[in-house]
Amino acid sequence: MAGPCIITVGNNKGGVGKSTTCVNLSAGLARDGASVLVIDGDPQSNTTSTLLPDLGLRENSSLVKALEDPEGAFSPFACATRTERLEIVPNSIRCMEWEVRSYSGIDSVLGFSRLLQNDKDIGKYDFVIIDTPPNIGPMLRNALLISDFVLVPCPVGDQYALDGFSTFIQVLSQAKQQNKKLLLLGVVLTKFDGRAMTHKKNKNRIRGFFDAKGIPVFETEIRVNIDIDRAHSQRKTIFEFDANKSGAQDYAALARETFARVQKEA
Ligand SMILES: Nc1ncnc2c1ncn2[C@@H]1O[C@H](COP(=O)(O)OP(=O)(O)OP(=O)(O)O)[C@@H](O)[C@H]1O
Ligand SMILES: [Mg+2]
Repeated sequence: MAGPCIITVGNNKGGVGKSTTCVNLSAGLARDGASVLVIDGDPQSNTTSTLLPDLGLRENSSLVKALEDPEGAFSPFACATRTERLEIVPNSIRCMEWEVRSYSGIDSVLGFSRLLQNDKDIGKYDFVIIDTPPNIGPMLRNALLISDFVLVPCPVGDQYALDGFSTFIQVLSQAKQQNKKLLLLGVVLTKFDGRAMTHKKNKNRIRGFFDAKGIPVFETEIRVNIDIDRAHSQRKTIFEFDANKSGAQDYAALARETFARVQKEA
């Protein structure tokens, strides 16, 4: 594969674990030796809040600044994180203004493509991982047009987890018409509580739903774990919080499986 492997983490439903997965999968890949750029495509900026050591850095470096620059590219706006080999193009709430403006302009789908085309240094990264907001607006569409893969977190405990999934699949199919290489890398089951009967039942139902559609589901399951929430509120990756906890083990396993699946598709 020429250039980095670009993965969008997406699901139009909110609170399913997109940002948590983006942060900790990226940190897991970096810990395994890969050079990783995270693009925070969500103006809520949860991923930025966790990874960016100093939120003041966004004055000069942020996704909206890159998008507003006619010569903009991703890597000049990347900031270091506390994790070695892991950088981030941060986001801020001001990006919502760009989203509103872009609805009627060319950047509504092609802003990210322009940033990628202009980017002379993007080849230094092995992976670009893009977090997206819980909607099917310009950010998701932009991200899908430059991505090789989509990874979809899906919470096991939510009995409504599959509602609206057909809309997401439609958006993927539309994006695929313009970006032929785009592949659904897989669904990642999140927030799984093995002690809860409802979770076990739901898990089988969800796996069955995706199997019937021929959509791959990762073997790695992310267990529900209070430390993931604690790490989040302390603005740390799960590895910074405690690398021995189950959350860290799960995300380390997800990083290894992601690497293997990407290699298989290459
Ligand atoms: N495995 C887990 N165990 C416990 N809590 C989790 C787990 N995964 C995510 N959470 C918590 O669930 C909440 C939502 O997660 P997250 O922010 O990653 O979802 P999201 O899909 O990015 O949400 P949004 O759609 O609003 O961007 C957060 O408080 C997070 O800490
Ligand atoms: Mg999020």
